[in-house]
Amino acid sequence: MNILGLSCFYHDAAAVLLQDGDLVAAAEEERFSRVKHDHGFPKHAISYCLSEGGITAQDIDYVVFYEKPLLKFERILSSTLGTYPMSWGVFRESMITWFNDKLWIKGQILGELGIETEKLLFVEHHLSHAASTFFASPYKEAAILTVDGVGEWTTTTIGKATADWDGSGENKIDLLNEIRYPHSLGLLYSAFTAFLGFRVNNGEYKVMGMAPYGKPTRIEDVHKVIRVAADGSFDLDMDYFSFHRSTNRAFSSKFEQLFGEPRVHDSVFYTPTTHPNGDHPDWDRDVAAINQNYADIAASIQAVTEDTLLKMCENAYDTTGSNNLCLAGGVALNSVANGRIMRESSFDSVFVQPAPGDSGGALGAALYAHHVLLGNKRKFVQEHAYLGKQYTADEIKNTLDNAGIYYKHFDNDDVMAESMASDLNEGKVISVARGRFEWGPRALGNRSILADPRRDEMKEIVNTKIKFREPFRPFAPAILERFASDYYQLSDAEKLYPLRYMLAVYPTKDDKGSNIPAVTHFGGTGRVQTVRNEWNTLYHSVIEKFWEKTGVPVVLNTSFNLRGEPIVNTPSDAISTFSRSGIDSLYLGNYLIKK
Ligand SMILES: [Fe+2]
Repeated sequence: MNILGLSCFYHDAAAVLLQDGDLVAAAEEERFSRVKHDHGFPKHAISYCLSEGGITAQDIDYVVFYEKPLLKFERILSSTLGTYPMSWGVFRESMITWFNDKLWIKGQILGELGIETEKLLFVEHHLSHAASTFFASPYKEAAILTVDGVGEWTTTTIGKATADWDGSGENKIDLLNEIRYPHSLGLLYSAFTAFLGFRVNNGEYKVMGMAPYGKPTRIEDVHKVIRVAADGSFDLDMDYFSFHRSTNRAFSSKFEQLFGEPRVHDSVFYTPTTHPNGDHPDWDRDVAAINQNYADIAASIQAVTEDTLLKMCENAYDTTGSNNLCLAGGVALNSVANGRIMRESSFDSVFVQPAPGDSGGALGAALYAHHVLLGNKRKFVQEHAYLGKQYTADEIKNTLDNAGIYYKHFDNDDVMAESMASDLNEGKVISVARGRFEWGPRALGNRSILADPRRDEMKEIVNTKIKFREPFRPFAPAILERFASDYYQLSDAEKLYPLRYMLAVYPTKDDKGSNIPAVTHFGGTGRVQTVRNEWNTLYHSVIEKFWEKTGVPVVLNTSFNLRGEPIVNTPSDAISTFSRSGIDSLYLGNYLIKK
């Protein structure tokens, strides 16, 4: 049984292939098309999934799309007509795109793949999110929380799910409560993202990165734009927003009256907290003070988001009586909030889909069809995220030879891991492109830039000389799983699934954070990635060898891409990115290229 899951035409397009219930391939279109957050029809990702599964489109039993287009069309129609004539611009633009593309989704899928109508299924957006996390988790039953910008109408759900592992249960997801558009935690966070000078649907994690440098002094003001009840349900005061009636403005002039002038898009960011000695090259006291105000606003929206999610979790716990929580939706990328949910909520165990945003909807749609619509027993648990394309030694060698690049080849992985660990110990910044690329937005060692976390200067070197991005953006520690509780305030790391996917921030232990300053955020936290041999042998071995040399079982890991570009996919992408950056060496498959 071959089931192809698809998401596209809104945020991140993706395709996944389930074969007899096993996830054999999953990839976002942007990795192939090289268009960041590509939302077009995922033809490259589909073709990759089919070839990975050794099939053609004619072998597909079902294609499952991650939302119901007509329901969504109805929402856009009625919400824009509701604010007409103010919404004329958004009405006109959305009608054009809907009549050009989106209303014909069904026809386009059938046409592109050459399949019959009966093989095409649609699953609602939040049900896809819910299935993407529950049917990838190891649980028999769980509470579910999905929170995003918006699907068809829904922006938030609380649900309960059960699984049939052995014929004794039932595969079922009941979404019990929902919050509907325009009341949306994701769109609220995006409005602040725009206000703080970053791109919506792209810069949300920059707001999270800015927040630790501020104090949550504006919580009361944030509560003027969002009213949150004790159970975590909320509504927005729409007088402060424009996203429902404008194509290019998320917030209104009333919002500006409350929070002041928006920050200039992508302007230089420094504050008295980021540079206590005033040593930023552009230092100006007045600008620093203005930026401090923006950092305080970032801290305030982050705090309200975390507190609201925690209240929703308690509500989900009380409503469902389950000890397990499955999270998905774009807001589940908020790793600071996830960490707090894992530490502070009543749930014993938390699972987050490694692609919690809309790309993950493709996986959820396929999993829902397989388990609920077709009634197959569960057997799949998502143990890792290495589900993308990999390239053969011949393909890599040919690319290098054709480009006339001098390289060294390793016959033995152990010797290669030793070379990588030595480079790191010597202060070199290395890049790795090897094996299958990762599913979801995080590079987890197969398309990564690695560096020595003990060297404070690495933060600046990697940010400004290698990735050309904002110097305040933090890096993540990849740590051998067995040492995670030595460095971070946690126990039983093997039970903390989100740590595998770098999806939760934890406080460092007091005496350890200063040993790894390049991956310790302001305030003493880290967005931990735990690494186990069975998930990624070479990556594990590199960190193990680095530990043997230095006594530190941690490396700095950041995605292998330059600012604004998708993470590398092919050998050519890796060589191009390497040559345009200050990275010292590239480990491409089993080949080493040096500058
Ligand atoms: Fe979504």
